[in-house]
Amino acid sequence: MARCYCHWRNVLFCVCAPCICLALMFLFVGVMMCTTLNNTTKAGILDPIDFVASGTYTNGSFAPLPKTFWDFNLHKNAYWNRLQLAIDRQLNPILRPNKIKRGSENSIFDDSLLSQSFSEVNDLDGMRKHFDKMPDQMKKFVGNMNRRDYPVLLQPNAVCGAGAKDEKQPPLLLLAIKTTEVNFKNRQAIRRTWGQAGWMAGQRRNNNITEDGGYVRRVFLLGKENPQELGVDLSALMEMESKHYGDILQWDFSDTFFNLTLKDVLFWNWFSQFCSQTLFVFKGDDDVFINTPRMISYLQDQLRKPQADEAMIDFMVGDVIRAASPNRVNRSKYFIPDSFYKGTYPTYAGGGGVVYSGLLTKRLNNVSKRVHLFPIDDVFVGMCMVRLNANPIHHHAFLTFDFPTKDGEKLCAYHTILLVHKRSPTQMFQLWADLKKTETQCWDTPLRVIKEKKHNTVTVS
Ligand SMILES: *[C@@H]1O[C@H](CO)[C@@H](O)[C@H](O)[C@H]1NC(C)=O
Ligand SMILES: *[C@@H]1O[C@H](CO)[C@@H](O)[C@H](O)[C@H]1NC(C)=O
Ligand SMILES: *[C@@H]1O[C@H](CO)[C@@H](O)[C@H](O)[C@H]1NC(C)=O
Ligand SMILES: *[C@@H]1O[C@H](CO)[C@@H](O)[C@H](O)[C@H]1NC(C)=O
Ligand SMILES: *[C@@H]1O[C@H](CO)[C@@H](O)[C@H](O)[C@H]1NC(C)=O
Repeated sequence: MARCYCHWRNVLFCVCAPCICLALMFLFVGVMMCTTLNNTTKAGILDPIDFVASGTYTNGSFAPLPKTFWDFNLHKNAYWNRLQLAIDRQLNPILRPNKIKRGSENSIFDDSLLSQSFSEVNDLDGMRKHFDKMPDQMKKFVGNMNRRDYPVLLQPNAVCGAGAKDEKQPPLLLLAIKTTEVNFKNRQAIRRTWGQAGWMAGQRRNNNITEDGGYVRRVFLLGKENPQELGVDLSALMEMESKHYGDILQWDFSDTFFNLTLKDVLFWNWFSQFCSQTLFVFKGDDDVFINTPRMISYLQDQLRKPQADEAMIDFMVGDVIRAASPNRVNRSKYFIPDSFYKGTYPTYAGGGGVVYSGLLTKRLNNVSKRVHLFPIDDVFVGMCMVRLNANPIHHHAFLTFDFPTKDGEKLCAYHTILLVHKRSPTQMFQLWADLKKTETQCWDTPLRVIKEKKHNTVTVS
């Protein structure tokens, strides 16, 4: 009996000693990595794949390391990258394995990481001085980029935008349209054409029988115009408009180009509160034209696909732009100095008009609390998408740069598109009337598809 016990002890010792040694070694390597690699993670990417160090492929060969892997000073002088690095490091699966295992999406989402990173990047004040000599909008942006809690001035009365009273099913589509106080004409044209709220039939198919349809809701997203600059205070008019149409969502920040990103984050937050049942969101400009019946049929088709539930987790479709570089021309409206941002932009869908699922909207709302505001709104959405490991889908029927050829003059042209930029209020009325007029002739024209030479663009229908 005693000998047996002894024997067991030996076996246990033989098995465990190497294990303990190995564990200690891993711990040591882990600690070393934590202390030395702190600054080497690529900012802007949270896909765990990107953090696998000198990884091997499943076939046993070594994966090459990116040239910049050991570069400590990759983003040292770019303000946004520095701030974001402080957050992304917190969520790095190698450095913080427990956080990732618990599921970063289920952990608490508040903006504590954002404010923490502002104090963590300690020579910020030195960096901010760079921007004193910059164009005005850059200066203003940097001065306010730690603030996003602007109060609501006007909003629909505790409902998800203007819509029908007794909807028999959850809204299919919420149209969220970026506009400004002065663009009343655009809002009016949208309300009376492609942006009508309530039940909307889909594209007629198969001999007049309207198969699809869905409830559409509408909300306009606004900041505030400066009454001194404008020479007139429009707030009383805005209040009347809001009372009358119930589709105004306005916040108390100046409605400038570099503040557009605030409309995304504040809208996502509002949506998560009031629209949680809504299946899809359109977000875009007030000078686009949408073929809403086609859009409805297109979205219904997405819901009918196998595994639609799963697809909705990441669903975003639009005019997808890849590997764009920041504009470095200081006179441009889009100018971003390299003291603010280094690197290419992530893949993003052009902000003229994009559609995404309600579920993705709620996920974007959460993840946006871990991404620093970026002055170009659609790029910011792309940055959030990267951190959700989600990819927007490109569709040729989103013409955010108008018809590329004379295709636009054909009879059924507007039946082949989901969206086109840019159209005046007068054109919107005309196009909407034409769409109705040509309905019977054009009902079976398919949506635009471009035959690609290379396979680098995904086409869906
Ligand atoms: C292993 O896989 C990688 C990536 O798929 C490939 O580039 C590499 O050539 C493969 N190596 C061998 C020996 O097959
Ligand atoms: C967003 O985060 C909250 C916790 O802060 C969580 O309860 C909720 O499920 C998250 N929503 C989504 C869609 O991930
Ligand atoms: C089909 O619809 C058009 C217009 O909506 C109508 O004029 C026509 O009579 C309809 N045809 C049939 C067979 O119902
Ligand atoms: C954004 O709005 C805030 C609040 O009105 C303002 O202080 C700031 O200057 C604006 N930012 C830009 C870039 O215009
Ligand atoms: C813009 O760039 C030009 C030449 O590159 C330079 O002379 C000018 O000072 C710059 N302006 C600002 C506001 O930075």
